[in-house]
Parts: sequence; structure tokens; C-alpha cells
Amino acid sequence: MYPSAELVHDDPEGETFRVHRGTMTSTAVFEAELREIFDKTWLYMGHESEVSKPGDYVRRRVGNRSMFMIRGAKSGKINVFHNTCTHRGATICRQEAGNAKVFQCFYHAWSFSTDGDLVGVPGDDAYGKNFRKEDLGLRSPARLESYRGFIFISFDPDIEDLETYLAGAKEYLDLVVDASESPLEIVKGTHEYEVGANWKLLVENSIDGYHAAATHDTYMKFLANMGTDLGSGIDGMGRSLGNGHSVMEYVAPWGRPIAKWEQLYGEDARPGMEAMRAKLVERHGEERATRIADNNSNLFIYPNLIINDIMAVTVRTFMPRSPGLMEVTAWQLAPQDEEPEVRTRRLDSFLTFLGPGGFATPDDIEALESCHDGFLSGGVEWNDISRGMNRDPRSQDEEQMRAFWRRWSEQISPDRMLIR
Ligand code: FES
Ligand code: FE
Repeated sequence: MYPSAELVHDDPEGETFRVHRGTMTSTAVFEAELREIFDKTWLYMGHESEVSKPGDYVRRRVGNRSMFMIRGAKSGKINVFHNTCTHRGATICRQEAGNAKVFQCFYHAWSFSTDGDLVGVPGDDAYGKNFRKEDLGLRSPARLESYRGFIFISFDPDIEDLETYLAGAKEYLDLVVDASESPLEIVKGTHEYEVGANWKLLVENSIDGYHAAATHDTYMKFLANMGTDLGSGIDGMGRSLGNGHSVMEYVAPWGRPIAKWEQLYGEDARPGMEAMRAKLVERHGEERATRIADNNSNLFIYPNLIINDIMAVTVRTFMPRSPGLMEVTAWQLAPQDEEPEVRTRRLDSFLTFLGPGGFATPDDIEALESCHDGFLSGGVEWNDISRGMNRDPRSQDEEQMRAFWRRWSEQISPDRMLIR
């Protein structure tokens, strides 16, 4: 059953924005999301650095489907395949990541090349004249495009090109990439965890500046104890970037690996970071260099990619498995030629705040799971997401979330659920 005649109530004149809690708990909504959102948008598949050598591959769940990305040995290009054997269905890629020369299906041993061609069928003399190996290669999603190293796929052949889709989000991806002189790479190692809450709660949380002081009080106290000056607080703006994407861009007390020194890094680190900053100014000019070095951004790319350029750069994606369960994956993105001590500081910050056992993530998971449990308690139908509608929205306001929900409600409407 759809939960209500109206799922998102948006009244700019009345400065009211509400989201029906059924959007988080209804199975009909969840099924519509898979069909109307995940099958029809661009979805983050991975970063090109993850498959730099021929035969390198990574497997992951994208759009709730098992997919894998591999650099073809013959073509040299990045391929993405549906993870299913063209014989009778078994998954072909059986590991999370690795390097392969060939994929042999474990069921009846059909084998496929790294470019997806069917290259071996045991006993192929038992097949008739219409059996053609050329027709039975692995299948790719309808579209694959990349922007500055970030690879996206879509299951919709008619979707607009990726750059058009990314709209204003490109500006922030550029800031992340331009911070480094050398190409970026995903640092080996992955954070993986499940959250017993609806996936959209993590969308909201990732671009929610309002909760930081209350929820992450322990981290703030830790920083203060380590000598960080919290006096300046957290302030900036939040805005929609088009097509459901949004961002919070703000200054905060913590240090940034490129290139904002702070007490916690120690005096020894200071000259190196100042040199890094001077180089940034050389490459980008004072204004852009200051923005790159000092400004934090929590970037949301619709529907399920977060790039947190804060005290480390985290790439995070999450997939719903049911209305009340999501799988989260996160990686650290860093310059390939980063000095070892800078890399260590970066990874320390990544773990300390954003790691699954860090100061932030367990707090956030607790908040999200408690919201979901609260929805199931019932008695209240609507969430209020109207903060900042009466002014130019700040990073502490909820404009970023409204941008998400506006796009979401264009794709998911109760009528559509009734029709299909
Ligand atoms: Fe793969 Fe049969 S299902 S070889
Ligand atoms: Fe948080």
C-alpha cells in the first residue's frame, strides 16, 4: 500500500516542507525507488584508479544489482558487466577485488575474457548450428561514462549524458580533483557496514550541518582536548546544485590534509603544509587556492553518492536492501604521490572521525536507526524539513535535503505507484 495521497509537502510561500514518514517504511515506495530511481539515474560505479592495470577488477552492488568493473586486457578500457553468466545465470565474478586473466564460471566452466567475450565452452560440439559464442558475451549496463576519474553507469539507455546530469556538482568534483597535482587514487581498503535504517536517512544525515554539534559532541570535545581552537565554529552555506544534487560548503575548526594546518598535526608538519599551500596558490591563484585548502564540502550526488571533502576525502555510497536496511561502502581518496606522513595524517583523520569505529559514524548510525525505529513507533505522520526556508539557507539549514526530496518526489509519486 502507498502510504498517503501526498508524500512530500512543499509550500515555499508558507515556508513549510514536510516529508511523509511512509516514504521511509513502505515496501511499495522501496520497490518504486528501485524501478524509478535506481534504474533511471546515473549511479557511481567506482574510481578509475581501482582498475589501473589490465585485468584489475572490483565487484560491488550498484542499483541493487551485482556488477563488476574491470580493465580489459585486450581493449585497455574500463568495462562494467552485469555479474551473471550468459549460460544459466551463476555469478561470474566471485571476489570483491583482484586481478584476473579470465573468468571461468564455477557452475559449468564457461569462460569469459576481461573484455567480456565468451572464450571457452566445455564440450561445445554438443551445441547446434545457431549457437554462437559471439552472441553470448557478458552484458554491460546501457551506459558508462566518467567525469575526472569518477565512473558512473546507468541502466537507462536514454538518460542525458553524465556531465549534463552532474550539473552544479561538477564544480565541487573539480575542487576535489584540482586540490592535487598528481592524479587521485582510492587508497586500498574499504569501510563496509550495514545500517538498520532507510537509505534516505543517510542522504539527509550526510548533508545535515544541524546535527553536528549535538550528535558529535564527543568529537568536538576530543578536538578541544587535543588543542584545536573551536572558537570559530562551523559556518557556511547549503545549496541545491540541480537534478537533486546538493552541497554544504563551510569552514570548520579542524585541519585538512590539503592544506590547512592545525595544532593536532604538530609543529613538525607546519612547514610542509605551508609549502603545499604555496604550491596551490601557484597553480590556482590566491582565491581558488584558499577555497580548496580551507573550505569543507559535503557533496551529495543524487541518488546515493557522498563525497565528504573535510578532514579527509571520503567517497561513500550506499544501497538499500529493504525499506529498513542499507549497505554502506566508503573509501578514502588521496593524491597518488602524497608524502607518507601526510597520508598517515589523512588516514588517521579518516578513521578518527568517519571510520565505522570512529567518533562520527557510530553516532550517526545510532541516530539513523533511532529515527527508523521512531517511524515504526507511529503516531506521527510527517517529518519537518523546513529549516532555513525563511532566509538565505546556511549550512546548518535544510535546503540541501529539500533539493534531494524535490527531485525524489518528481520520480516517486503516489499516482505512479497506483498505476503500476
Ligand atoms: Fe555459468 Fe553454466 S551457469 S557455465
Ligand atoms: Fe554526523
